[in-house]
Amino acid sequence: MHIDNSTVVLGIESSCDETAAAIVMGGNDVLSSVVSSQIDIHAKFGGVVPEVASRAHLELMQPVINEAIQLAGIGAERINAVLVGVSAGKAMAYGLDVPFIGVNHLEAHLYAALLEEPQLPFPAVVLLVSGGNTLLIHMTAPGEYSLLGATIDDAAGEAFDKIARFLDIGYPGGPAIDAAAQQGNPQSIEFPRAMLHDGLDFSFSGLKTSVINYVRKNPGVASHDVAASFQCAVVDVLVAKTLRAAQQVDAKSIVLGGGVAANSLLRSEMQRVGSAAGFHVALPSKAMCTDNAAMIASAGWYRLRDHGPSGLDVGAIPHLSLTGSTVRGNRAGRK
Ligand code: KG4
Repeated sequence: MHIDNSTVVLGIESSCDETAAAIVMGGNDVLSSVVSSQIDIHAKFGGVVPEVASRAHLELMQPVINEAIQLAGIGAERINAVLVGVSAGKAMAYGLDVPFIGVNHLEAHLYAALLEEPQLPFPAVVLLVSGGNTLLIHMTAPGEYSLLGATIDDAAGEAFDKIARFLDIGYPGGPAIDAAAQQGNPQSIEFPRAMLHDGLDFSFSGLKTSVINYVRKNPGVASHDVAASFQCAVVDVLVAKTLRAAQQVDAKSIVLGGGVAANSLLRSEMQRVGSAAGFHVALPSKAMCTDNAAMIASAGWYRLRDHGPSGLDVGAIPHLSLTGSTVRGNRAGRK
């Protein structure tokens, strides 16, 4: 198959709570990107219910694909390839509390920044922070990565979601903490910064326990102060380690990806600290950070160009190989 800048790819993605389709031409030209969220449905249950998620995906997928084709202003016959995020089983893994990492899905998060900034200077250090992963990746070029660090327990997004649920401040947890933190004082409570000076791996489960213990001992504490102090502890560690990684590998750019990259404090701090240290900082737009199908289609375009089409038997595997390093799913791996 010949791949060039006129090749049109349909990307399809179904994550825990989103059904999405996008049409992308030539790797970077997003003709349409449609995301249909099931957040309202799952909010009623306080979290994702796998059976409900699968049914909703089935019902929504075809209308979402049709809308993407219509918005792109092309006929279906113009589509040269179809790429599916290998994460349709994510809702099930979420429910069973077992690791699940869609190979193409993680790779796709790496491409989200490239979609908006095709001339991104390499090498780059990517901080990939989502509901299921917290990874530091050294990206020397599209398709060439190695793993620098990862969480040894909870993912950053998972910590946000669990603390929001504990504080009962809304679902999904990340945006709820982000909003509550705007009203709070990040210096009001000194929560631990785990492994701050120790390598490039992360740990968030001790922080979660410490927040829960603090609130139990101080029942009158204002939720927005807890949210702001917790968020500040997470962001301090994420920013410090990303900066250290970028210095260690002599990177030109720092790139954020994944749902937690939509966090307002993480974005502003990474921009401030990264630029002060002389790095180009790439922050994908918030819509590109969370799950979407444009990034799947873009990653697929590069994969097709460099490796050709996959067989129809391609499946999701519970770990991702990044040039020799294996990224293990963490306990409650959401993808
Ligand atoms: O990459 P993503 O959309 O998908 C999954 O991991 O399934 O990431 C979702 C995660 C959730 O944990 C959510 O709470 C978190 O990203 N998130 C945020 C924010 N927006 C989404 N975390 C902190 N601040 C935000 N503004």
